[in-house]
Amino acid sequence: MTEPVRKGWVSPRLDVPSGIHRPDYADRGRPRGFHASRPFSASELARMRHACRAAAQVLRHVGTLVRAGVTTDAIDRAAHAEYLRLGGYPSTLNYHGFPKSLCTSVNEVVCHGIPDDRALGDGDIVNLDVTIFLDGMHGDCSATYPVGVIDPGSARLIAVTRECLELGIAAVRPGRPFRAIGQAIEPHAARNGFNVVRRYGGHGIGRSFHTELHVPHHDDPRATRIMEAGMVFTIEPMLTAGTFTVREWDDGWTVVTADGKRSAQFEHTVLVTNDGAEVLTTAP
Ligand code: MF3
Ligand code: CO
Ligand code: CO
Repeated sequence: MTEPVRKGWVSPRLDVPSGIHRPDYADRGRPRGFHASRPFSASELARMRHACRAAAQVLRHVGTLVRAGVTTDAIDRAAHAEYLRLGGYPSTLNYHGFPKSLCTSVNEVVCHGIPDDRALGDGDIVNLDVTIFLDGMHGDCSATYPVGVIDPGSARLIAVTRECLELGIAAVRPGRPFRAIGQAIEPHAARNGFNVVRRYGGHGIGRSFHTELHVPHHDDPRATRIMEAGMVFTIEPMLTAGTFTVREWDDGWTVVTADGKRSAQFEHTVLVTNDGAEVLTTAP
């Protein structure tokens, strides 16, 4: 197994020009409440599509930068420049105090990894989680990438996690409970020998980065709320090669597997249509 991921050096905060529209938490670090999830109007949806397309564009761009020797800080700088170029604000920047413009989660880091001076190494896997605030809406997506040549177990973890996201999306349909999503995901992870993280889930999204709507990726009988056409939320399963139990570093952000085994994640923002789901985070 590779060396455990260690805390690195975090570079100074990057600026956002004053011409870019900022979310309400950008200065104080805390959102002033949230806008509850409900079906979106046509104009809200148009803005949401714009934000989600841009998020996908940023993700596609930073994904091309992944290779051995590149630091996650360099990926953060590139992401930051790309959000600004598209006219958006990096949603994670100062969100509850998060210091960077995307999350970079390497190997056993499950989510919320902070970009730092660690260089990616051959054989690593890294999730890049990109969120943009554009047109007054957040768009959120992520993918896990291999760095150089990875071991077959990690490649399978990545492939199965991507399949789990697709199965979760395929389970979306108006009139169904949110539980259907986890019911589609968890058995696929299990039959491949992987576990699904329970501590974090997908979420309602729109004018708020995270709404009250929680979308479990495991079969959770509490997820009784019904999907309605026009609702928008994320599906972002995190699978692990070992236990689904996680712990958080004392930096207040970095979430790692309790057993140090690897984790992968993929995320899309999706819209509930009249007969299924539409993925909003696709690049033009
Ligand atoms: N993008 C993450 C998600 O999918 C949230 C990151 S919040 C941060 O919900 F503060 F950690 F950046
Ligand atoms: Co995300
Ligand atoms: Co998300």
